[in-house]
Amino acid sequence: MLGAMIRSIVILTGAGISAESGVPTFRASDGLWENHRIEDVATPQAFRRNPTLVQTFYDQRRAFLGQVEPNAAHHALARLEAEWSGDFLLVTQNVDDLHDRAGHNHLVHMHGELNAALCTRCRAARPWRGPLIGNPPCPACGQSGTLRPDIVWFGEMPYHMDRIETALAAADLFVSIGTSGAVYPAAGFVELARHAGAHTLELNLEPSAGTPMFHEARHGPASVLVPAWVEEMLAAD
Ligand code: OAD
Repeated sequence: MLGAMIRSIVILTGAGISAESGVPTFRASDGLWENHRIEDVATPQAFRRNPTLVQTFYDQRRAFLGQVEPNAAHHALARLEAEWSGDFLLVTQNVDDLHDRAGHNHLVHMHGELNAALCTRCRAARPWRGPLIGNPPCPACGQSGTLRPDIVWFGEMPYHMDRIETALAAADLFVSIGTSGAVYPAAGFVELARHAGAHTLELNLEPSAGTPMFHEARHGPASVLVPAWVEEMLAAD
């Protein structure tokens, strides 16, 4: 399906698009994330049980962002957004800032961002660059000891769902890049898009749990597949 027939694109990205930048994926090592079980660092219960462990874990992930750069796949999607004449929405499950640094105006972080802090008292979410360990005061309400990473943990509601579902309902093309299709609601976007009549394409290193739900799948590294696909789209626009 080529660009001339497509006016509205929704793209979903996951950890695989950042893998070649050096950011580890989630499910590459037996369900461990950087040697931690997900339930020990990515649930509200874990945060209540051991806030020091959880804050330290995300402080390290946030600091690590300074050591990685967007790769060819991030840059290709930024170019597509800049040059594509139709509607465009990039939805990422990633909490890194590599899409942001590649340059986007139509990007939503449905699982939150490492570079943001959420106040559990006043609910303000604010950009945050340094560590959260040590109880810094909330920039909005001034209270100390109330900030947590602005990350959507298991059991919490992903962000921007209204905007995402509206875009999926109007999409002509839905493309899933570098995600295992293991975590809902993101894993269900392909079905919503198909139901709305969109063509659906998977770009992933290997077949994923969701592959049978896509009209078309291409397998290989994102740094190769994504720039090639973007070239096709822009040539046909
Ligand atoms: P996963 O780690 O589950 O999946 C990463 C996917 O990327 C796999 O399908 C890999 O095959 C693929 N992959 C790896 N290297 C690649 C490459 N170079 N090029 C293309 N694809 C590659 O990560 P996600 O699907 O993003 O949620 O995980 C979804 C959510 O689960 C995350 O957002 C996170 C996690 O728990 C929260 O934190 C709420």
